Amino acid sequence: MLKNILKAVPDYMPLTSQDFIRHFSNLLTIKQWDLWVDYKEYTKILGYSCRSLFETVMIYYQKDDLVVAITPLNHTSFRNAIEKYVKPENIHTIELNKKFNRIKKMPELDQCDLVVITHLFGQDMDLTNLADFKKKHKCVVIEDRVQGGPRDLKFSNDFIDISLYSMAMDKRPVAMGGGYLHVKNFHKDFITKSIKFVGNLPHETTGSRLKELLKKIPTFLFYNSRSFLFLALCIADFLRQFNKRINVLNITSSYRKSNPGFNRVTFMQKPSSGLCRSMYENFDNYHKMEKNYDIKFKIFINQFSPKLQSYFFPWFWGDSCLGSYNTIKIEEDLLPSFLRYFTNHNIPTIVNPSYKIFNSHHENDLKVISFKNGIVYIPSLANLKKEEIIYLSTKIKQFYLKYVAYRKKRIQIEKEILTYPLTN
Ligand SMILES: Cc1ncc(COP(=O)(O)O)c(C=O)c1O
Repeated sequence: MLKNILKAVPDYMPLTSQDFIRHFSNLLTIKQWDLWVDYKEYTKILGYSCRSLFETVMIYYQKDDLVVAITPLNHTSFRNAIEKYVKPENIHTIELNKKFNRIKKMPELDQCDLVVITHLFGQDMDLTNLADFKKKHKCVVIEDRVQGGPRDLKFSNDFIDISLYSMAMDKRPVAMGGGYLHVKNFHKDFITKSIKFVGNLPHETTGSRLKELLKKIPTFLFYNSRSFLFLALCIADFLRQFNKRINVLNITSSYRKSNPGFNRVTFMQKPSSGLCRSMYENFDNYHKMEKNYDIKFKIFINQFSPKLQSYFFPWFWGDSCLGSYNTIKIEEDLLPSFLRYFTNHNIPTIVNPSYKIFNSHHENDLKVISFKNGIVYIPSLANLKKEEIIYLSTKIKQFYLKYVAYRKKRIQIEKEILTYPLTN
């Protein structure tokens, strides 16, 4: 039997079995739901997913010479939409600081129509350096806050025009699908046209919503049920005697790839009534999950000295990282050793499945590529007990001692050896 097994994979569905069942019973609704909600300063527009709403935004602003300034790392779906609607020479990368948590420098441009910001790793990025740029260019600022900070804040900054959110299976809030955007009320034309556009998309049928929900049952068990996962890992451990390729790394990566949040191809749809009902019922269910993520993250991060915090979690501001993905940064050339080390200890990991860079050439590419390649998701903290969180952090510290500290020492010794004989 596996010793010290961690009963968590690098993802988590923040809902109970009752919540899950409720999504099925919501399919029986016959009510027609509005695709928008008015608030005093902004309007919420509902969609089939976050990516379909982002594409709706891009369609609205589309023009021949559209110029966009954008953060270097974006979710695959956002990267694809930008490449679809903007000419490569009109996509300009925003320079971030080394920790990827602050805008260092905005690109120097004569004209800019849109700015797109992707917040990373469960917290909001510092956008102070964007304020003057926005004033100068009078551009529209859009933010992907799916992996951003607390949801009580509707926009990360006052100068944001549109913020986007997902309600997919592992997001905050969760409705097992769907997404929404917030847009400031002075964008009247955008509001009217976007609601009409989403309303005229092909309907998601109740049957296909049912199929999507049924497909999530094994995923729910795999992500949330500790005993189910324990059993699955024990079976995998047994089968490894016959096939060495069966290990937690290969299993988790291929499972995630073949079981995405929802249909990645036909996402330009109008949400079904069942999905709308699930969204309306769950807009506020983020409070409980943020509290859980916050408590667990604080236990985890406090296991590390400030030096190790900034080595493995350079983006961490000192508050909390909210979200189901427990993300760590590994130096690119140490990645194979890290994955092997964790796999040998039966700890599931996934190498950056979320963030992509643009296919066209950009400034700062090497820094960004190396950062992107070193992002790894380790077991989600949400479902772990305190002693398991400590065990996970101990394994990270042991990795540091074995590979990083040793390497640093070796470089120092090599330096000492190679400086001899002294030339004078
Ligand atoms: C940062 C980020 N942006 C956008 C999305 C896309 O959300 P959706 O799956 O609702 O389209 C995701 C989904 O994982 C994400 O993590």
